[in-house]
Amino acid sequence: MTDPHTDEYALALDAADPLRGFRDEFHLPLHAGAPQAYFVGNSLGLQPKGARAHVEQVLDKWATEAVEGHFTGDAQWMTYHALVRDGLARLVGAQPSEVVAMNSLTANLHLLMVSFYRPTRARPVILLEAGSFPSDRYALESQVRFHGFDPATDLVEVEPDEADGTVSMAAIERAIATHGDRLALVLWPGVQYRTGQAFDLGAIARLAHAAGAIAGFDLAHAVGNLPLQLHDSGADFAVWCHYKYLNAGPGAVAGAFVHERHARTGRPRFAGWWGNDEATRFRMGPEFTPTPGADGWQLSNPPILGLAPLRASLDQYDRATLPALRAKSERLTGYLERLIDDGLGDVLQVVTPREPDRRGCQLSLRVAGGRARGRDLFGFLAARGVLGDWREPDVIRIAPVPLYNSFADVLRFASTVKEWRDGR
Ligand SMILES: Cc1ncc(COP(=O)(O)O)c(C=O)c1O
Repeated sequence: MTDPHTDEYALALDAADPLRGFRDEFHLPLHAGAPQAYFVGNSLGLQPKGARAHVEQVLDKWATEAVEGHFTGDAQWMTYHALVRDGLARLVGAQPSEVVAMNSLTANLHLLMVSFYRPTRARPVILLEAGSFPSDRYALESQVRFHGFDPATDLVEVEPDEADGTVSMAAIERAIATHGDRLALVLWPGVQYRTGQAFDLGAIARLAHAAGAIAGFDLAHAVGNLPLQLHDSGADFAVWCHYKYLNAGPGAVAGAFVHERHARTGRPRFAGWWGNDEATRFRMGPEFTPTPGADGWQLSNPPILGLAPLRASLDQYDRATLPALRAKSERLTGYLERLIDDGLGDVLQVVTPREPDRRGCQLSLRVAGGRARGRDLFGFLAARGVLGDWREPDVIRIAPVPLYNSFADVLRFASTVKEWRDGR
């Protein structure tokens, strides 16, 4: 029972896991008739079994009530987005009026940059990380150009300064100090998608603000993965998606945060009727009066079918609670790390920071020997129902998700890597 490489050990950890029941609330994809070891919740989270009932409720309401569905019952479509508001606020550590579910991540990033990236000749610069998620970079670069500035000088990327491609707080601090008086916006991830590194949002927001800049965050890989305190962090705005750790389905409606101090801002924004104050929205007048808070950035009436599964997911988070999920996540990822260090160090190098407070659940693993060997291992794992994802040129990302992954899943990953190594 003390050898972590045995089934008995992993099964005992699973038996002692207070959250083990949540695994049964998900559809687990099958491989050769048995559940996959699915480690790709950082890309697309699994389907909560409860999602179907929420989607069917919308379909039934549409079938039986048609337009009246906007106005009847607790789940009426007029106020449907408000059904997820409190759960989202709890998840990201915000006040309810600071969060809204709308659009998609990249669309929200653009919308909030319309308000919060206001470059001037003296202050045109956006600071971001080198190697940021491509969509973010495209969005930022296009915003710089849109305002008539030059990305070559006004889009500044902070290079990783640590051995495995991670970025120290000192490097961020230096970059902010260097560009301080030309800085309009710092746009940073909560968790870096490639390395799995987690950042201190409060510290970054404080540095940005001290330099006179706005602080915005992309929380795609942080939300539902780490406990967040967005309000207290002082962030000006944040955006995220709900199809990864939030298990709300492919292309699910995304989320956005606008700090309370901007609730009644006079900043410019791109407006639509759903952002107009509910009290006057249906007078259909020509004047736009924004709803105070994050709701005021909405454009359209939301896609109800795209929002419905999020209700099932938030219900799970409320029952499991983030502190308990995080405690399990640290154990689960720590177990993965231990199995790699203790027996697979010749095959896999952990790229993700070793300190639990500098990472979420994901470990990014560089395969020794380069790309061809890495692809071979990746194919071997997939052919045996162990699914991670591949990041060029030589990294496999493994994200043990505390809501549905088990310690036995983690052992299965390590045992399969061992089988590959010993067979080669
Ligand atoms: C870090 C990050 N930013 C942005 C995106 C783009 O998201 P969307 O396609 O929802 O706009 C993703 C998608 O996976 C992401 O991981």
